[in-house]
Amino acid sequence: MTAATYQYVDLPDASVVTTRALLTARENISDTVAARAMMCIHGGAGFGKTLAVNTCLRALEPGEDVRKITFRARPTARAVRYELFTALDLAGEPPRHPSEFDRLLKTALAERPRTFLVDEAQWLNGEAFEYFRYLWDEPSTQLAIIFVGGEGCHTVLRREPMLSSRIFIWQHFTRLTPGEVLEVIPLFHPVWADADPDDIAFADQHAAHGNFRAWAQLTAHTRTALTRTGRSRVDQELLRWAFSRLA
Ligand SMILES: Nc1ncnc2c1ncn2[C@@H]1O[C@H](COP(=O)(O)OP(=O)(O)OP(=O)(O)O)[C@@H](O)[C@H]1O
Ligand SMILES: [Mg+2]
Repeated sequence: MTAATYQYVDLPDASVVTTRALLTARENISDTVAARAMMCIHGGAGFGKTLAVNTCLRALEPGEDVRKITFRARPTARAVRYELFTALDLAGEPPRHPSEFDRLLKTALAERPRTFLVDEAQWLNGEAFEYFRYLWDEPSTQLAIIFVGGEGCHTVLRREPMLSSRIFIWQHFTRLTPGEVLEVIPLFHPVWADADPDDIAFADQHAAHGNFRAWAQLTAHTRTALTRTGRSRVDQELLRWAFSRLA
């Protein structure tokens, strides 16, 4: 998959950049997977969690069996079973009875070590988290699980001592610091490659605030402004116009 797959807005020529949070995630994920443990990455919307985790998982050993599960609404344990059935590409019809379903999933998970990426984990309630714990605790399975979620994820998980006491690594994802912005944004997109560092700092203070999704949106509007005005380089007037679209 190309890096562009993970871009929020369709942003031609954008690159994945190595932030400090991404480097930490890489180490944490590889240690979690090696230990067949569970970890939790949590932090604000748009800070780059999903992109970082997908990038790091692709860099794991080629033989590692990674399955992605993304929740969009509050699932019941039943819904979690169905999601896992789909994520594991199991053949046939999903079993009707919970006990039969559990047996099927445990048998499939006993086949080989696997890694689950559970994104948008702030949607999970106690029952859903408990189901993951149940599968992970089963001696025949060799599961590593990476829970990724918004700020609320940490709170929800903390309320589940059975699961949270089993979390091997917690990583709080934070926004880019002003210093990091000056280092990574010029590498993120050609629009910023030859921009004046003062203009990048200005854009961060006024609009993006170290939030990567905001930087991606700002970059898209800045590209448009460059094309429309025929200018070759970012300036403050042009940036103000781009900010006006983000307010
Ligand atoms: N390391 C990076 N390099 C390049 N672009 C990045 C990077 N991290 C994030 N982005 C950009 O920021 C956007 C938002 O990142 P991402 O979707 O990973 O945030 P998130 O923390 O998962 O947010 P949410 O909690 O809303 O799911 C990405 O789609 C991408 O455009
Ligand atoms: Mg995300």
